[in-house]
Amino acid sequence: MTATRVALVALLIAVATRDAVSQATPRGATDAGAAGALGSGARYIPPPGRRPARFPVAWPFPAGRAPVVARRAMVVSDAPLASQAGVEVLRHGGNAVDAAVATAFALAVVYPEAGNIGGGGYMVIHLASGRNVAIDYREVAPLAATRDMYVGPDGKVTEASVVGPLASGVPGAVAGLTEALARHGALPLAEVMKPAIRLAEEGFVVDSALARRFGDYRDLLQKFGGGAVFVPNGEPLGPGARLTQPALARTLRTIATRGRAGFYEGPIAESWTRELAALGGIITLEDLRRYRAVWRQPIRATYRGHTLLTMPPSSSGGVTMIETLNILEGFRPLPPFGSTRWAHLLGSAFQRAFVDRNAKLGDPAFVNVPLKELTDKRYAASLRATIRAERATPTPAAPLREGTQTTHVSVADSKGNAVAMTTTINELFGSGIYLPSAGFFLNDEMDDFTSRPGVPNMFGLVQGEANAIQPGKRMLSAMSPTIVLDARGRVLLVAGSRGGPRIITSTTGVLLNVIDYRMTLADALSAPRLHHQALPDTLRIEENGVSAAVQDSLRAMGYGTSSGSIGQVNALMRVPGGFEGVADPRGSGRPVGY
Ligand code: DON
Repeated sequence: MTATRVALVALLIAVATRDAVSQATPRGATDAGAAGALGSGARYIPPPGRRPARFPVAWPFPAGRAPVVARRAMVVSDAPLASQAGVEVLRHGGNAVDAAVATAFALAVVYPEAGNIGGGGYMVIHLASGRNVAIDYREVAPLAATRDMYVGPDGKVTEASVVGPLASGVPGAVAGLTEALARHGALPLAEVMKPAIRLAEEGFVVDSALARRFGDYRDLLQKFGGGAVFVPNGEPLGPGARLTQPALARTLRTIATRGRAGFYEGPIAESWTRELAALGGIITLEDLRRYRAVWRQPIRATYRGHTLLTMPPSSSGGVTMIETLNILEGFRPLPPFGSTRWAHLLGSAFQRAFVDRNAKLGDPAFVNVPLKELTDKRYAASLRATIRAERATPTPAAPLREGTQTTHVSVADSKGNAVAMTTTINELFGSGIYLPSAGFFLNDEMDDFTSRPGVPNMFGLVQGEANAIQPGKRMLSAMSPTIVLDARGRVLLVAGSRGGPRIITSTTGVLLNVIDYRMTLADALSAPRLHHQALPDTLRIEENGVSAAVQDSLRAMGYGTSSGSIGQVNALMRVPGGFEGVADPRGSGRPVGY
């Protein structure tokens, strides 16, 4: 080791120690909003090989932000208390899988807008042994679901796939989390669920971010049973209020004792399916009995000497990301970050990958997915050849509809294991249906299916036949939990996002920022993002994300442009001496490490 490197490692260790202390929040209290920081007075020195980034003047997130640094292990999630739950389990001898599961159950308590037991998700797992696995616990359509169940008598797509009792797929979260733990965890389920049960039973202090959500979603919460818990006496819980969830605590205790059967069978399943049926819902005990999480081989691909491990279908995330990166790999180097050509090449690559995504992908148990072809570098070369130097290419056909609430967790432990996990109930508070006896929200994931193939849906978007509704089928997802290994096969980066189709573009963007633009992790997440999903045929760029001159040039090239948020990434990266963790400055998450 060189002298500089020794000094750097020493600095990182010192920082890690201070940070571990600065992250200790009293039990049950949250302090959202204070994303990664070094603590007062410390100056962040980027790891070797990382270059300072520069963003447009009006861009709200400054470059040079400090990450949270930890020597041994790191958990990054959208809720500080949930990240702490993961670290608590790691400190008790758990591995990255234990920590991911603990964090997921804790998110179901402290982050009800997206954390869940009433939804589903995916985990990509890199084991210290070198083995890589993935688990798919995406929801499935209920047995009573029909292809046109969201088409009204007037032929128009209704709102029932988004809000209310018919919007939910059969939840997969509990099956997936318990199965992942049983196979790859080190601790018993009851131990791993302790923090979540404690948070539900003893309560926790609502922070300003959560309070704002309760306020914004007051009507939905009151409409379908969540009012008594989250909007008591007609007033949304405010910052500083203590939220206890006895019904959820009971459900979690039952799961901790009985495993998946505690949720999918017995009194809890009977009572919540009865409540749902009374509202007009169609998920039955038979649906629950049949539900299975599925182990899958992660997609393994290379990008500029790195190995990527990411989620195969039923998520479209991995395929679309790899197809995009394969197209971009042929441009060496990529144009300067933030330039017109940067926006043109990234936008064009995403556009092409999304054309395939929208038409060809679906649940592999129901449709034949051309996975090999779509992730083949020669195929990408043929798409690359269709990008014109100075002009936008109009999109030929069929897009997807967008959802808005999901949450991603990145975990790495001291033994070399890592987990990228994304979970969702789709939109904020899912379908809005809160089941009082069991204390959780049901998802509105049915909206990720094609409500009507070939016809624009209520958002003016169209999806393909491959993703049409069929009983027992998984609806296509965009979730993109991803692990990047360095040239020596060690975990370099763990990342993923929320944001519907923008999950794919925001996660890919962060990878490009780290690999091509050599940004620090914090800059990679702070950097302006762009998104193209084929249709609508517009290049979406975050507001003030590029200069006015670049905007003008893009319009002159034939791009329609729009602005708006693009994803919310939580990521960690290996650095000399440990890990950096960064929660997206667009959200209120927080990394915790030790
Ligand atoms: O699985 C999907 O692709 C969507 N249900 C994800 C929705 C989402 O990310 C909303 N989050 N902000």
